[in-house]
Amino acid sequence: MNWFQRHHHLRPVTPEDKPSLQTFLRKTIYLHQHLDWRNALDWVGWQPFWLAEKDSQIIGFLASPADPPLASWIRIFAADLFVSPSRVLVELLEKNVEWHREYGKVSFIASLGLSDWFSHLLQDSGFHHHQDVVMMTYDLNFVSCQTPLLRDGIIREMGFEDLPLVTAIDHAAFEPLWQLSQIDLSNAFQKCTYKTVLEVNGKLVAYQMSTESESKAHLARLAVSPEMQNKGLGAALIRDLLEHFILHKGLQSVTLNTQSTNAASLHVYQRCGFHLTGEQFPVFILPLY
Ligand SMILES: CC(C)(COP(=O)(O)OP(=O)(O)OC[C@H]1O[C@@H](n2cnc3c(N)ncnc32)[C@H](O)[C@@H]1OP(=O)(O)O)[C@@H](O)C(=O)NCCC(=O)NCCS
Repeated sequence: MNWFQRHHHLRPVTPEDKPSLQTFLRKTIYLHQHLDWRNALDWVGWQPFWLAEKDSQIIGFLASPADPPLASWIRIFAADLFVSPSRVLVELLEKNVEWHREYGKVSFIASLGLSDWFSHLLQDSGFHHHQDVVMMTYDLNFVSCQTPLLRDGIIREMGFEDLPLVTAIDHAAFEPLWQLSQIDLSNAFQKCTYKTVLEVNGKLVAYQMSTESESKAHLARLAVSPEMQNKGLGAALIRDLLEHFILHKGLQSVTLNTQSTNAASLHVYQRCGFHLTGEQFPVFILPLY
């Protein structure tokens, strides 16, 4: 047992801790929250979610539950102003790793590096740089959408009842790290204002979901079934959403994020008139084995 463990108590978070966690969040500045479709404290009740306390006072907590089962992200990390955030992260991370090794199915924990201090902490704790999330934008002054018209297939608005098939497409198209569970796809469904599916011969083969705020929209999710890729379906969904937001609703721009290593998506987005903005943030990975 090291000095930290002798002077602090580490334990899994329970639902009764939620009010104390909320209070803690209001006062700490060492806070990392994943870009998530749910609130960070909605993960209370999931494991692993551990906290550290001293004299019954919370000094930090860390959650990295996997949902879907192969995608474990650091969903939230918070540490007290008066302790070393690096020490708190190392100790809580060890508990999260032990839990995943014993009960989980993941082979790594991933984290976004949304701030410099947290990126440094992750690297000091054994995480390595995996890829970057890059931002792209389409605006009226840039270029028109160069995509062929969709010949075989129809695009229609997504209904709640489509979510099981949408989830299946999502899991077939994305690597495990970037898959969303049906819970999160249904959260995305509630928050997105324009969501469509593409059917070919009556079979649902692709989908997109986009959010909207005042003068701009954001393409949050796009996937095409692997066997139907490279046939222009992704571009058809993008063309349709650009028409919806720019032509019909009069919005000024549409933004999106993708991965720096996702060559197919970068290609199709650029062909549809999106360009890289230069903004990006790193994705880090901690292998468990
Ligand atoms: C990205 C994605 C939605 C594109 O859908 P799609 O239906 O295949 O797209 P399209 O057929 O309209 O266009 C694909 C283009 O990418 C090109 N492409 C495919 N693989 C490529 C690669 N490895 N490198 C470069 N270009 C590639 C194709 O040649 C085609 O371009 P072209 O029409 O100029 O020849 C699909 O690949 C997918 O679902 N990927 C997994 C999920 C994902 O990454 N979503 C987006 C990231 S947020």
